[in-house]
Amino acid sequence: MSAAPTLEENPDGSFVTVFWPQGASSRYHAIWLRDHGQDTASRDPGNGQKTLLTTDIPANLRIKHAVINGSRLEIAFDDGSTTWLDLEWLQHHAYDRHVSETLIPEGSNTWGADLDVDAVTESWPRIVDDETALVKWLQWVVSLGFARLRDVPAEPDALLDVIALFGFVRETNYGRIFEVRSTANPVNLAYSRMGLHPHTDNPYRDPVPTLQILHCLQNNADGGNSSVVDGFRVAEILKQENPDHFDILSRYRATFEFRGDRKSDLAAHRPMLDVSRDGRLNQVRINSRAFQSLTSVPFDLVPDFYAAYRHLLQITQRPEVVVTFRLEPGELFIVDNTRVLHGRTGFSRTGMRWLQGAYADLDGLRSTLALLKSRHAA
Ligand code: FE2
Repeated sequence: MSAAPTLEENPDGSFVTVFWPQGASSRYHAIWLRDHGQDTASRDPGNGQKTLLTTDIPANLRIKHAVINGSRLEIAFDDGSTTWLDLEWLQHHAYDRHVSETLIPEGSNTWGADLDVDAVTESWPRIVDDETALVKWLQWVVSLGFARLRDVPAEPDALLDVIALFGFVRETNYGRIFEVRSTANPVNLAYSRMGLHPHTDNPYRDPVPTLQILHCLQNNADGGNSSVVDGFRVAEILKQENPDHFDILSRYRATFEFRGDRKSDLAAHRPMLDVSRDGRLNQVRINSRAFQSLTSVPFDLVPDFYAAYRHLLQITQRPEVVVTFRLEPGELFIVDNTRVLHGRTGFSRTGMRWLQGAYADLDGLRSTLALLKSRHAA
């Protein structure tokens, strides 16, 4: 920070105002400052975890004295406790601003059919050798919920090396890796030749696998093209076209189930559109194959629910939201399964389409990305 910030204490000690050199100012409550204190009595100096229990702070805590000392704001409270907070950290975590109610989470950019798949494609050898390229690829997953990778060896299990670059496999009843090719009497319609409408995977789990990776080993069948749809864009369109439809799908739970492999009995009761009370979209679950029952909607509202659900599904099929591409051997794509739907067209008996899939965790990918970014910024 070039010039020093200045400080003003509210006379009753309930908050302070910090005037930043860039011109803006931020207010911080006494309770907030005490609860976020960075002194070693409040936080473990090694791991940064809080040792201060919020209930140990007096409810009517007041600031007795506050001063800016170098890079820190130092505060003495009226209960005799003291703490300090790093000024850059304080500025970064300022909460005294108008928060607009936006549907789409911060850091996410929605897209439609205009998404250029080539522009969000990297090469496997490059992301292994060049951390800048890896950061770029991981950033697409975070901001767009989708990215493609080429030049991956078209060999079984190669996708495990890709996952190891940013995190860990999430194993399920489908195995560590699942084989997506047509079989007789498939336990899941994914293992047939059928076309699959855009969907999110495993909505019958809590939590759902947050990342899916699909790697192509062979694809010389007729058809079998891949498609992806940004579920956040779909939700945006739905809300814009009919706020009541958006509301009913976010208010009521649907039941998603899976028992197809005879060794699972999975069920989750969740809304198709998971929205925080502040209006922020958290997750979508859209999967017509797994939507098995609807029992949580009041009788009189069931027709409205179905009208909304039909509307939602229709939007997922509109050309303006669907991105279609052909996955060639040695290519894979990754989706944020809490957001982006994937599907495929049906394929022929002649030729072979063989994909390997695996699940992984988005929080681990985000963590890897954050660490790489801070290393590059240092
Ligand atoms: Fe799927």
